[in-house]
Amino acid sequence: MSFDYFLYKGVRFSPGSFSEEVLNFAENEFQVLDDDVYIVTYPKSGTNWMIEILSLIKEEGDPTWCNNVLIWLRSPWYETKEGQSQIKDVSRPRVLTSHLPYHIFAKSFFTSKAKIIYVMRNPKDIFVSLFHFSKIICHYKDPESFEDYLEDFLQGNLLYNSWFDHVKGWMQMRHNSNFFFITYEELKQDLRACVQRICKFIGKELDEAKIDLVVKHSSFKAMKENKMSNYSLATADFLDHTKGTFMRKGISGDWKNHFTVAQSEYFDKVYQEKMKDLNMNFFWEES
Ligand code: A3P
Repeated sequence: MSFDYFLYKGVRFSPGSFSEEVLNFAENEFQVLDDDVYIVTYPKSGTNWMIEILSLIKEEGDPTWCNNVLIWLRSPWYETKEGQSQIKDVSRPRVLTSHLPYHIFAKSFFTSKAKIIYVMRNPKDIFVSLFHFSKIICHYKDPESFEDYLEDFLQGNLLYNSWFDHVKGWMQMRHNSNFFFITYEELKQDLRACVQRICKFIGKELDEAKIDLVVKHSSFKAMKENKMSNYSLATADFLDHTKGTFMRKGISGDWKNHFTVAQSEYFDKVYQEKMKDLNMNFFWEES
C-alpha cells in the first residue's frame, strides 16, 4: 500500500476516488436540492452508522432496502467520482454523504434549504479507528507506527487534513436552523432519543413502533451481520479483507486501550491549543 495524494485547495485527497475536476464540480457546479439531507463527517466519526439510521428512517423502519442495497449506493459520497455517477439512482429526498471540509463544500448548499447532519466523535477514538482502518483500506497511508501516525493525525497530515480544522470549519454553521450536529457518543448512549431528534430535524414523523425498528436495525450487531452495510462486499482494490473488518469494535473509549499516558497528555495539549478559539465544550474533554 502506498500513500498517494494530491491537494485540492490545500486539502489532501486520494487520487483513487477523487480528481481535481470532480472536486471542482462538487464545489462549484453540483446542484443541491432543497429537500436533500447531507451527512457530513470527518472519516471514522460514525458516517456509515448515520447512513444506516437515515436509510431506515426514510423506509419507516422497514429493513428491506438496507438488506438489499449496498450502503454506499443508498447514500453516495457526492464529491467522489463513483458517487457522482451513483446519485442519479437515488430517490428523493436524497440522503448524500460527504467528508468535505466546510470551505470546499457545494456552494449551492449555502443558498438552499437543504439540511446537514454533522456527526462528531471523540478524536482519540477517531484516531484509533483510523489507525486500524488505514491498514485495511488501500487508499490510505499504511501506518508504520502508532506514534508516527498519531503525529500525522495531530498535524493534519493525513487525507482530509486536520480533524481540528474540519470541526472548527463546520461549527461555524452551528446556529443555522438547517444544521444539526450530534456525537457518536450520544448515539451510543441513547440511540432511540437520537433517532427521535433526527426525525424532528428532518421533519419525519414516525410512531413509536417504527422508531423501535430503526433502533433495532441500526445496532452495531445488525449492521455487522448485514453484508450490504458491513463492507464485506467492497472490492479487494478498496479494502483488504484479510487484514481486518470495517465494523471493528463500535465502542466509545477504545483509545484507552491504545494510548499511553504520555500520548494521551500530548494529545490533550495539542487539542487544547487547536480548539481554544472555538468556545464549545464536548463531553469527551472530561473523559
Ligand atoms: P471502530 O473502528 O471504532 O469500531 P465511519 O463510518 O465514519 O467510517 O466510522 C466507522 C466507525 O463507526 C467504526 O468504529 C465502526 O465500527 C463504527 N460503527 C459503524 N456502525 C456502527 C454502529 N451501528 N454502532 C456503533 N458503531 C458503529
